[in-house]
Amino acid sequence: MKSDKIFIFDTTLRDGEQVPGCKLNTKEKLELALELENLGVDVIEAGFPISSPGDFLSVTEISKVVKQATVCALSRAVEKDIEVAADALKGARRPRIHTGIGTSDFHIKSKFKSNRKEIKERAVQSVKWAKNFVDDVEFYAEDAGRTENEYLASVIEAVIQAGATVVNIPDTTGYCLPHQYGEKIAYLVNHVDNIDKAIISCHCHNDLGLATANSIAGVIAGARQIECTLNGLGERAGNTALEEVVMILRQHAHLGFSTGINTQRLNPVSRMVAEIMRMPVQPNKAIVGANAFSHSSGIHQDGFLKDALTYEIINPDEVGADGSKIVLTARSGRSALAHRLHKIGYDFTRNEIDVLYTEFLRMADTKKEVGEEDLHRLARVRV
Ligand code: KIV
Ligand code: ZN
Repeated sequence: MKSDKIFIFDTTLRDGEQVPGCKLNTKEKLELALELENLGVDVIEAGFPISSPGDFLSVTEISKVVKQATVCALSRAVEKDIEVAADALKGARRPRIHTGIGTSDFHIKSKFKSNRKEIKERAVQSVKWAKNFVDDVEFYAEDAGRTENEYLASVIEAVIQAGATVVNIPDTTGYCLPHQYGEKIAYLVNHVDNIDKAIISCHCHNDLGLATANSIAGVIAGARQIECTLNGLGERAGNTALEEVVMILRQHAHLGFSTGINTQRLNPVSRMVAEIMRMPVQPNKAIVGANAFSHSSGIHQDGFLKDALTYEIINPDEVGADGSKIVLTARSGRSALAHRLHKIGYDFTRNEIDVLYTEFLRMADTKKEVGEEDLHRLARVRV
């Protein structure tokens, strides 16, 4: 079946780095950028060059070493910002300027003390200015999630007319429900006359835990780029998690989408991001959490040991995880106990396992997890 390519725009180094405590220096950013390229992302948002000399340097250095991926730099709809972004991107083989402005009435009235007409003019001017420096210009309509669709469509049409190659529709506050975000993208597909001249991009935040669902809804409705971060890092509750959207599109191949991501690198790169940013991954995190492939209850363990597919929809090798684990707790059953004992060299009969199991439960009730040392002790009593 022919599949539509979904471009993966990684913003771990920009939106992800906005997490308090996750600030990276240039060396760390460079190291991560090379890993991201190796992972197969299409676009690396390397930073916001006007924000600090350190970020300018990071974008400059990343531009020099990245070969395949597009290197993108963020700016506001401000001429100086755009010029500085262009300067930092000078060495890039595929440079992209990401410029934009808030389009919701919250932004127009409270932040800019302006009006819709003026904001649309600034949006168009910023894209035109950026086009003086690079061909590839992405426009973001900040808070598009809460922007009235008719006005949003008119801004998007105008910026495409001005030369935008990608139009980013951020749900900046993570407010939208999946069907609302999908309808917003569908509205643009159906009401922006020149929409075929640009790629629509999803940039969803996770304030209500819906970033991944919203991005997928956006793609189903016609978007072809997803902006995301490793481990879902990002401002406040974070961004769409790269590993989640990539694996959703892969697991649901019937949707007809594919990405260029080397999924076996997902866990190693996730671990590297967690370490370098000093931001541990929650154990129950999908795809990359320590428990993503752990089975601990007796019913699940028994089913998994008979056929892994009973309780696992992804093979851990496919995402570079360490492998499935049978964790022994007071909720585990006999088959899990026999399996773990077998793995460390003990083969007991069914009757022996029955006797050991009573001992095991007594032990398991006193601790969170029964480990290898405990198993040896248990087995020795019996042998
Ligand atoms: O969330 C957002 O709206 C952003 C833009 C700057 C793209 O991060
Ligand atoms: Zn964002």
